[in-house]
Amino acid sequence: MRDEAGYAQMSAELLAWYDRHARALPWRVPPGGAAADPYRVWLSEVMLQQTTVAAVKDYFHRFTARWPTVQALAAAEDADVMAEWAGLGYYARARNLLKCARAVVAMGAFPDTRAGLQELPGIGPYTSAAIAAIAFGRAETVVDGNVERVMARIFDDHTPLPAAKPILTDYAARLTPDARPGDYAQAVMDLGATICTPRNPACGICPWRGPCAARATGTAPDLPRKTPKATKPVRFGIAYIGRRVDGAWLLERRPPKGLLGGTLGWPGTDWASSDPVEAPPVAADWRAVNAELRHTFTHFHLRLALRVAHLPMDAEGHFVPADAFNPRDLPTLMRKAHALAAPALGA
Ligand code: ADE
Repeated sequence: MRDEAGYAQMSAELLAWYDRHARALPWRVPPGGAAADPYRVWLSEVMLQQTTVAAVKDYFHRFTARWPTVQALAAAEDADVMAEWAGLGYYARARNLLKCARAVVAMGAFPDTRAGLQELPGIGPYTSAAIAAIAFGRAETVVDGNVERVMARIFDDHTPLPAAKPILTDYAARLTPDARPGDYAQAVMDLGATICTPRNPACGICPWRGPCAARATGTAPDLPRKTPKATKPVRFGIAYIGRRVDGAWLLERRPPKGLLGGTLGWPGTDWASSDPVEAPPVAADWRAVNAELRHTFTHFHLRLALRVAHLPMDAEGHFVPADAFNPRDLPTLMRKAHALAAPALGA
């Protein structure tokens, strides 16, 4: 199997499987169908980074209903896009999404090569390959976590990730066909998501069970190997959930750069490795909420103490009226804080 002809046969077998078993996804055209809309492919691939298909579907529907084209998205207000993105996490992606949409509109259209795509904000090696293959039929190799797992198993490679990345990418490139590269890329991802799953892979029904080296040796469930990650540090902070007597909420927009950059949330202290010093946004009778909020980011765990207060009509700050406030417009952390604090404010 490990020669050009063998690889060609493998990719043909996988495409035949995909023709019958492709998942129907909102951003997808059916196997062998017309070219996919680059806008929808780009938007879905950016949303799917670090997230699951299940988590993305509703967001994708809402975005494409509100902004059906890249021109429409480019003309959107930043705050509206941040609000629709709220809950998806990794907010730099939302900021880059807008930058990218505006750059594409300035250029006239999405570039149709991987190199051209990669010059755009927020489009890295994965996303550029995915759009080039899926929307433009370019024979680019798309490598995400699913593809890495499938390759580690097919080739029974025990090198631990992340060091294994270039090796697994090289395997994936050998298997990428010139014909139907977009369908092929999505076929490998679907195989990883539905059959070649992290635990309990369904090897018995896998279209690649014949050539799979890890299946032959029984190592499939143990692959890919991973170098253990350092344990995450814990940080502590305080958030202040203030409600004016007319029901308006005291919120603030975070600076554009950094964690949760550009998102709307509750004022609070910095998040530090030791106990935070109180720093209320306005003087008031702040009371402690008898529950600690725990939230995990990529690089640390956060423990957030909560304070609540009723605020007078002349309190200063950015107040969002009750009828314009929707916790869904907030990042998950801030949404959780609202859910924990609201009862203490009678909200
Ligand atoms: N994960 C990310 N992009 C995907 C796609 N186009 N198909 C299946 N799974 C994916």
